[in-house]
Amino acid sequence: MKKIAFLGGGKVGQAMLAHVLEKKSAEVAFVYDPFQKADELMGVPVCRELPENPFAGLDLVVECATADVVKACAVNVLKEASFMPFSMTAFRDDELLAAARAQAAASGHTLYLPHGAILGLDGVFDGHAIIDEVSIETIKNPKSLGRTDTEYTVVFDGTAREATALYPRNVNVHAALSLAGIGFDRTKSRIISDPSVDTNEHVIRIKGEGIDWTIHVTAFAAGAVSGKYVPFSACGSLDRILGSGSVSFV
Ligand SMILES: NC(=O)c1ccc[n+]([C@@H]2O[C@H](COP(=O)([O-])OP(=O)(O)OC[C@H]3O[C@@H](n4cnc5c(N)ncnc54)[C@H](O)[C@@H]3O)[C@@H](O)[C@H]2O)c1
Repeated sequence: MKKIAFLGGGKVGQAMLAHVLEKKSAEVAFVYDPFQKADELMGVPVCRELPENPFAGLDLVVECATADVVKACAVNVLKEASFMPFSMTAFRDDELLAAARAQAAASGHTLYLPHGAILGLDGVFDGHAIIDEVSIETIKNPKSLGRTDTEYTVVFDGTAREATALYPRNVNVHAALSLAGIGFDRTKSRIISDPSVDTNEHVIRIKGEGIDWTIHVTAFAAGAVSGKYVPFSACGSLDRILGSGSVSFV
């Protein structure tokens, strides 16, 4: 049975933890979360500080905390285990991405990019050689962006590189799309704050040699960082890595 650990024990982390424990699909060594008050979550020990050499002996580490945690841990994790980060805005830093890729190649571990709040990243990745243009427009309630707008406001229009610097917690899908597709500088990002919605909505348009795609995803969010779909999507990604699903869409 594979041994895994979670960095971050909030909404997405706890959904995956409950799923793995229910399916008995992996042994969970620990949940690292400095802000958890409880000493354990669902019977799994919580550490508020990382012990020395925390990732040795693990098969997979799942990050569901913040981009800073990815920045601090990615290379160290990949020395010892495979890594699935959800806070992918961290990889707007080209040096970090190159170091993580090099470490994964050197140690034979895998850096997994979950599709998170959107659909079709596998298709974008497979087609990236023939893709010329990618744009993504995200519409969220101001609360989901940490803002207080009282009317529809275009808060950002530019590259995904800049969007992910301005909203590291809120536009992980812009980072995921950039990583799967044509990069942070060529992916166009628009972020809209709309107090009339209680959803997170993403409209992705992709054009290239003989292809023209639109991916439109809306999920109830009620002002939260993660919408209704993400916990389900995260559990599906984890099942595919652990090989514990009875059906696998690849
Ligand atoms: N890739 C995607 O499509 C996608 C979608 C939704 C969420 N996310 C990202 O996934 C992450 C988790 O989302 P969530 O809804 O579970 O958030 P959440 O706020 O419910 O949980 C985050 C948890 O991380 C913990 N945390 C904060 N700082 C930490 C640190 N330094 N070390 C370890 N733990 C720390 C918090 O105490 C909290 O329990 C966020 O960064 C979010 O932006 C990505």
